[in-house]
Amino acid sequence: MKTQILAPSLLSANFADLGSEIKKIEDNKGGAVHIDVMDGSFVPEITYGEPVIRSIRKLTELPFDVHLMIEKPELHVESFAKAGADWITFHWEATNHAHRVIQMIHEMGKKAGVAVCPGTPVSLLSEILPSADIILVMTVNPGWGGQKIIPSCVEKVAQLKKYREEHGLNYLLSVDGGINNETLNSVIDAGTDIVVSGSCFFNGSLKWS
Ligand code: DX5
Ligand code: ZN
Repeated sequence: MKTQILAPSLLSANFADLGSEIKKIEDNKGGAVHIDVMDGSFVPEITYGEPVIRSIRKLTELPFDVHLMIEKPELHVESFAKAGADWITFHWEATNHAHRVIQMIHEMGKKAGVAVCPGTPVSLLSEILPSADIILVMTVNPGWGGQKIIPSCVEKVAQLKKYREEHGLNYLLSVDGGINNETLNSVIDAGTDIVVSGSCFFNGSLKWS
């Protein structure tokens, strides 16, 4: 029995039937619903925003793990919190004001996550690690489901776990991108607490027990 939280990503779900897809998450040991918000600027694609989150909020009690791949997340924290997000993760690279964005998320009574792209070293995060609830390590470049994991990114999880122990901190470590039955053990061994899975979960092949 795994102690990690499985957070299936709706990006690979059938958008025409989100009710059934959320039920699939509940029935297959999902502990949170990972919702990827893309703005066509921070990443090229555009997905969905607050109205969709608001309408699926009534379908489940599971926490909504909202991953904002958007520029200037500070402009949208309040509206995503009001739409039903429980954990709000924004990108370190998308704002000049990471510390303030964390404060804003906390003021809305939500858990604050900070995501890092593959090209961003974790050493840049030292000032915000004491106040973050979640650090989301991207193990692919953000923007698309179904990509291959970048193995060097998995080392960041181990680094952040060690740092957490050495400094008595409490953030959870989340891993997002390229997780399948071949790569799952490597991210768990590195110390991840939250495993995001999109394509592998929704094609029904992920073995999670
Ligand atoms: C990618 C998203 C991921 C995506 C992962 O930018 O942040 O959450 O859904 O998809 P897979 O698991 O297919 O790599
Ligand atoms: Zn994501």
